[in-house]
Amino acid sequence: EGLCVLMPNEQRFDCFPEGNATQTSCEARGCCWSSPSMKVGRRNAKITPVSMGVPYCFYPFDYPTYHLVKYEPTDNGFSGVLERDCDAVDVYPSPIQLLSLDVYFETSQRLRVKITDKNNQRFQVPLPVLPDPPASKSNGLLYDFKVTKKPFSFQVTRIETGAVVFDTSAGGFAFYDQFIEIASYLPSRFIYGLGEHTDAHFLHSVEWTKFTFWTTDIFPSQGTPLYGDHPFYLNMEEDGRANGVLLFNSNAMDVILQPTPAITYRTIGGMLDFYVFLGPSPQDVVAQYIELVGKPVLPPYWALGFHLCRWGYGSLAETKRIMERNIAAGIPLDTQWNDIDYMDSFKDFSVNPANFSGVPNFVGDLHSRGMHYVVITDPGISSVEPANTYPPYDHGVALNCFVKNSTDEIIEGRVWTGKSQAYPDFSHPNASAYWTTEIANFHEIVPTDGLWIDMNEPSNFVDGSVYGCPQSPLETPPYLPGIAGAGLNTRTLCMTAKHYAGLHYNLHSMYGIYQAAATRSAFISLNPNKRPFALSRSSFIGQGQFSAHWTGDVSSDWSHLQTSIGDILNFNMFGIPLVGADICGFAGDTTPELCLRWQQLGAFYPFARNHNSQGQKDQDPAAFSVNVTNAIKSALQTRYRLLPYFNSLFFRASLNGSTVVRPLFFEFPQDPRTYSVDGQFLVGPGLMISPVITPNTTEILSYFPAGRWFDYYTGLEVDGKGAWLHLPAPLDTINVHIRGGSIIPLQNGEVTTTASRLNPFELLVALNAGSASASASASASASASGNGSASGELFFDDGEQLDVLERGSFTLVQFALMENVLSSVVVSPGLWDIPRLDLVSIYGMDEPRAVVVGGKDAEFTYDAMGVLRIRSLGLDLKTPFKIAFE
Ligand code: GLC
Repeated sequence: EGLCVLMPNEQRFDCFPEGNATQTSCEARGCCWSSPSMKVGRRNAKITPVSMGVPYCFYPFDYPTYHLVKYEPTDNGFSGVLERDCDAVDVYPSPIQLLSLDVYFETSQRLRVKITDKNNQRFQVPLPVLPDPPASKSNGLLYDFKVTKKPFSFQVTRIETGAVVFDTSAGGFAFYDQFIEIASYLPSRFIYGLGEHTDAHFLHSVEWTKFTFWTTDIFPSQGTPLYGDHPFYLNMEEDGRANGVLLFNSNAMDVILQPTPAITYRTIGGMLDFYVFLGPSPQDVVAQYIELVGKPVLPPYWALGFHLCRWGYGSLAETKRIMERNIAAGIPLDTQWNDIDYMDSFKDFSVNPANFSGVPNFVGDLHSRGMHYVVITDPGISSVEPANTYPPYDHGVALNCFVKNSTDEIIEGRVWTGKSQAYPDFSHPNASAYWTTEIANFHEIVPTDGLWIDMNEPSNFVDGSVYGCPQSPLETPPYLPGIAGAGLNTRTLCMTAKHYAGLHYNLHSMYGIYQAAATRSAFISLNPNKRPFALSRSSFIGQGQFSAHWTGDVSSDWSHLQTSIGDILNFNMFGIPLVGADICGFAGDTTPELCLRWQQLGAFYPFARNHNSQGQKDQDPAAFSVNVTNAIKSALQTRYRLLPYFNSLFFRASLNGSTVVRPLFFEFPQDPRTYSVDGQFLVGPGLMISPVITPNTTEILSYFPAGRWFDYYTGLEVDGKGAWLHLPAPLDTINVHIRGGSIIPLQNGEVTTTASRLNPFELLVALNAGSASASASASASASASGNGSASGELFFDDGEQLDVLERGSFTLVQFALMENVLSSVVVSPGLWDIPRLDLVSIYGMDEPRAVVVGGKDAEFTYDAMGVLRIRSLGLDLKTPFKIAFE
């Protein structure tokens, strides 16, 4: 007992997570009870109580849990058996006596540790389908795996540095039927990921922070689970190396970060199935994670354009009026959307005959203008229409593919129609045929270019079902994670509801990924040659294989503009790079200033859509004064000009699992000052975006990691390296800087991507400081001389075809400027002509005497900012070229 008092606060692992502990109930669990120790303030030695999150009831050092009774090497790792200690306290019902431990050395950087009931099969996440562990051990493992027998724990160490990456000797290991807990020390407090949550910062606080995982339809705010479930984190070690951990589990779960630093997982089902990724760079970690869970699909090119949407246009006439005023104002616009108001009484796959009857012609008109159209669907299928009048329901009944209740009838909830609705069971083998037919039938009438799949957490406006839920330990587990609401079925289906793949209790958070997979395959059946587009609110591990994501019902306020940066960075780490927040905010009225700043930031979201809630003030770009509208236009024009670069990054993401937007530390892991920067971000390796994220701001502080940086618009070199700099931030521009060492492909923007794709290409080259520089850029490491160098690439294809990577029907050209020569390598010529390269602009080069293209002197200009430009080049990118600077 005396030892209890000595336990420092940060070493306390909570033994009474359900709250309301008393000394008696705590000690009945064999745990320590004591009030948190007081810390002495460093400054003035004043005694200040520490955070309220420090547990009063915590595990003693030698708390009985499990011990290892068998442990032997296998061809590709270890296998073992754990037995529950005979003096372990039964805190929850149904402790599991014997556990199997399977350790797989899957690749040299990836390790899997699986712990589950040895004798009874438990729920295992059915999707995404992860690769089987390899039969034999890989060579050159970056990690070492060790176990401690009693109390059982395991440690993963990075061989190269000795860093302990994962170490469960923190205590508190427990395995009951509905309560599984494990804690690990973290090598540092720099931890990211763990979505989907709104957090004030991209870098999480380890000061007793709780994240709950359980897909939920809720207005985003700090402290509640949101629409998606991604129990993956990335952690920076002390020396700039990175590791990542996925707990492959879909059950309701809490994750606690505490200042030890340590992480505790508490899940109420499934099993412990950990994947540890050793990187060593943060980009490597993410690529290894995405390699495992599934690489993102390549979006159709038009999806990278600007999207306009709102709930509550109310009619096609109003949709058109708003759209046309934006086009008239010169706003680049690729895709017009309609929300649930296009439907007939909010029924999926129907069109409101009074106000939207003209939609089919409208879509035809959009297509003839090179534009696109997307509509919403919700999972709820009206179940109360007269028989034989509403095929989407009758058909689902016939195919037996709606979710059932515990007594095998179709479970009914209630969403927008206000009446009973059935939920397609997208895990059912018939669901794909069902969904494909419904989409195809609708598509005959409204040839939508994609589908917006909303409310798929799945949301339900009544708890459980219209008849409530039967009593079950599944509804009232002995431990309830920090979900939003009184019970697990709050605003969703009963936990006892049955899907083909299992109980709702286990599959709840996977509804979205099943629906996204069915939607993608439906569009592929419809048109086997075209890349589908689906935008899903709910998401799960690996969903980038099927859909894009937007961050849901954010508010029109500055705090949600700010947190959107962390959100898009997180989803890029989760392998869903096509992501954005509703630009200008969804709930509440925006203001011209907020909307302008948000449009400027949103111009650099991978997915850029302005969307607004019903009843809110107009917030389309043309709704404002001419000055605001023009400033928005110029931000979107910058985006459109950069689309060849964005598209090349999406190609890399789908090929290598890299990120499109990324935090600064992904490119500068050796600079710990970047670890907490989340007011800025990078697009690819070469472009830094420094948005205004606060009101009344005309000057911002931005961090510039060591290296050369140039103002994107003017070529002005920024004076300062590895430091925070004041930048002017006038209302009409967003700060964008290009990193020395980069070559960025551009195309002048038009009002649609269809038009801008035809424009000649340009290359924007920014030189690094040459071999003398300490640039950490992998892409810029080619420098051999004292003159600067740079590199980059262009991926281009027809923008629509499916499986271009497999078919090789794309152009890939790599560029390098080294030793005063800019040259290209044609990696893949592609199957058809692409626009020519007309303009090369170079930032950071001393004025040459001559520029030689193809053996001939070329005309060039060199301006006061030191920008060199060679125009009218007319180069065919499918033939390698050389431009020499003398
Ligand atoms: C949900 C969606 C939102 C949509 C609304 C009406 O709240 O998140 O984007 O506008 O439903 O369909």
